[in-house]
Amino acid sequence: MSEYIRYLNIPTVPNNMILQTAKEIEALKSPWAYKSDHPDRFLLRKNANKDLEEFLRPYFDFDITDKVYYQIVRSKSPKHIDFNRTSCYNYIINTGGHEVFTCWFNLKNEELLEHKEIIPAQVWHKINVAVPHDVQGMTQERFALTVFEWSPGRSPAEIESLFKQGYSKEKIKRSIDT
Ligand SMILES: [Fe+2]
Repeated sequence: MSEYIRYLNIPTVPNNMILQTAKEIEALKSPWAYKSDHPDRFLLRKNANKDLEEFLRPYFDFDITDKVYYQIVRSKSPKHIDFNRTSCYNYIINTGGHEVFTCWFNLKNEELLEHKEIIPAQVWHKINVAVPHDVQGMTQERFALTVFEWSPGRSPAEIESLFKQGYSKEKIKRSIDT
């Protein structure tokens, strides 16, 4: 059986180190030069606060430099497998409602629910995003810190290099789009 979620021994982040509104998060830089966002579904933004990075550094067993991001999940987010990572370390700032479930489905039969869980805010956890998953029951925007290593070939720099090799924007977008 796959492991879907594991709670981690990483301390709560001081509130003054993190952004508290989706509006402020949305104003940060996108990691993408060539991939457009789906702002009605999901947004990824680069953390710009080096103090936050330094605060988190001791708790990760890989170099988190430039790997701390914010994500916003919106209600139109469909069931999906992440294209750019197999797992991520998340810390929810706003859960998006009182009873919001993260749901994981069977890799071979996406209709089959394998596990669902209400993940609390302000608790670090590692989740599996290599199987189909979605978030259900949101009544507000849901946003979180997310720390992860890019899957090989899927980092913004690698995608940019494809573009420089002459691949069309449409072709790159098709190959990486969720
Ligand atoms: Fe995802």
